[in-house]
Amino acid sequence: MTSLHSSSCCGTTIPSMLQQPKHDRIILKSFNWKAIVASILSMVIRSFQIPSSQISLVPNVGLKLSISGAFIQVDGKWNAHYLVSDKGNFDLKVEGLSISVGLQLGSDASGRPTISSSDCSCHISDVKIHVSGKFRWLVDVFHKSIDNALRKAIEGQLCPVVTQSITNKLQPLLQTLPVTAQIDHVAAIDYSLTGPPTVTAQSLDVQLKGEFFDIAHRTTPPFSPPPVPLPAEQNLMVYFGVSDYLFNTAGYAYYSAGKFESYITDDMIPKNFSVHLNTSSFGILIPQLSKMYPNMPMILKIYTPSAPFLTIEPGNLTTSPIVAIQAYVQFPNASLAPLFLLNLTTTVLVKVSVNSGRIVGSLELSRIKMELVHSDVGPFPVGILNTVVNYYISSIILPEVNEILQKGYPLPLLDHIQLTDVIIKPSEHFLLFGANVQYG
Ligand SMILES: *[C@@H]1O[C@H](CO)[C@@H](O)[C@H](O)[C@H]1NC(C)=O
Ligand SMILES: *[C@@H]1O[C@H](CO)[C@@H](O)[C@H](O)[C@H]1NC(C)=O
Ligand SMILES: *[C@@H]1O[C@H](CO)[C@@H](O)[C@H](O)[C@H]1NC(C)=O
Ligand SMILES: *[C@@H]1O[C@H](CO)[C@@H](O)[C@H](O)[C@H]1NC(C)=O
Ligand SMILES: *[C@@H]1O[C@H](CO)[C@@H](O)[C@H](O)[C@H]1NC(C)=O
Repeated sequence: MTSLHSSSCCGTTIPSMLQQPKHDRIILKSFNWKAIVASILSMVIRSFQIPSSQISLVPNVGLKLSISGAFIQVDGKWNAHYLVSDKGNFDLKVEGLSISVGLQLGSDASGRPTISSSDCSCHISDVKIHVSGKFRWLVDVFHKSIDNALRKAIEGQLCPVVTQSITNKLQPLLQTLPVTAQIDHVAAIDYSLTGPPTVTAQSLDVQLKGEFFDIAHRTTPPFSPPPVPLPAEQNLMVYFGVSDYLFNTAGYAYYSAGKFESYITDDMIPKNFSVHLNTSSFGILIPQLSKMYPNMPMILKIYTPSAPFLTIEPGNLTTSPIVAIQAYVQFPNASLAPLFLLNLTTTVLVKVSVNSGRIVGSLELSRIKMELVHSDVGPFPVGILNTVVNYYISSIILPEVNEILQKGYPLPLLDHIQLTDVIIKPSEHFLLFGANVQYG
């Protein structure tokens, strides 16, 4: 249950049984059984029913896939070359088929999961065959020993087929799992495994890296991931722990790529707002501004002088970014002259949810404290800008940021896996996600 790897951001635990789809259809072509009376040319599995299958946990190894009470019906053509040549059709019923396959889980150097079969056993309670053609009477007479021989032959074939499917189908499929996902043209996320999954009697723990990086220049973030101790809750099928490391590497990646920088120009201010971005309008608040630069447009550069940091505590998520606002006046020749620099200490509440397999967020401003760092137009009481700056931040910048956060980032899910009954709980340094899993 507890994440054992401190070098990881996220944990997943799958405590419950996964139900397999109940019906399947497999077509085998040119399948030959030599030992029996006829050489069977072809057979088609008409019906393959698995009334019960389950995946259970094998501590320190991986998983055990058990199928019991399966029923298979096969139609085929046979062709015999003894005494006389003849051919005909047959149908075969296999009843009470049970298979148990051990699946050993691991991880490779690329951080992808690996799977191999550790053991396999199979048992069939009954096989019945009916044939048409000249040999029908012969099969009817010897049906006991023929059925028995068939049962042994099928039992002998099944485990090799299952083991080969794991090696040739499932393992290559896992090799196609993406371990990074591009978020946009700036950043990608690395969710490779940091080690083999750990299996206990109660849970399967998968530790993923969960690290954002700047696509152009990937660097090691200047902070390390916290441990993610998942609680022993068992009500839902899957639990994810997503630590602040994920969000903070995201902040760091975008900051390093110079993305926390934005400009506000007058055309972004709604027409009905009283203070427009020009020296006449601001001159009402700072009179020396309109005296030095009469009736000229202004531009605000808004940026974070350091990467923003997210704090996750039981109950809430907050970030307290320092935001700097540099005001400029714009001359008719388009060059800019600096007016003043403000320093904003903010507290922002972060709301997180899951939407279509993506983690999405939104920000809510809870506090702004403003300081005048430097003025090129002489001193002025910074408090007179409170209303204007609050409006610009909450009505122009925040909606822009929220629009980006609503796009979210994808959870590392396999194709066709859907999450339902999602719960999200902020814990110390990580967000706990719980969900039930649906396949389809
Ligand atoms: C400006 O107009 C919009 C609708 O066009 C309205 O929602 C908003 O409240 C108005 N703002 C002010 C400050 O009057
Ligand atoms: C400055 O803004 C005011 C509204 O506050 C507007 O009436 C005026 O035309 C603007 N001046 C310029 C140069 O854009
Ligand atoms: C967040 O939760 C912590 C611990 O419960 C509390 O001390 C802090 O005031 C809360 N912050 C906000 C902004 O609600
Ligand atoms: C643009 O105009 C301003 C004010 O008239 C002047 O000080 C500045 O040197 C000019 N810049 C350029 C690049 O021409
Ligand atoms: C801005 O405010 C923060 C926190 O109050 C402070 O640490 C930082 O030095 C300030 N920046 C400037 C340029 O004054």
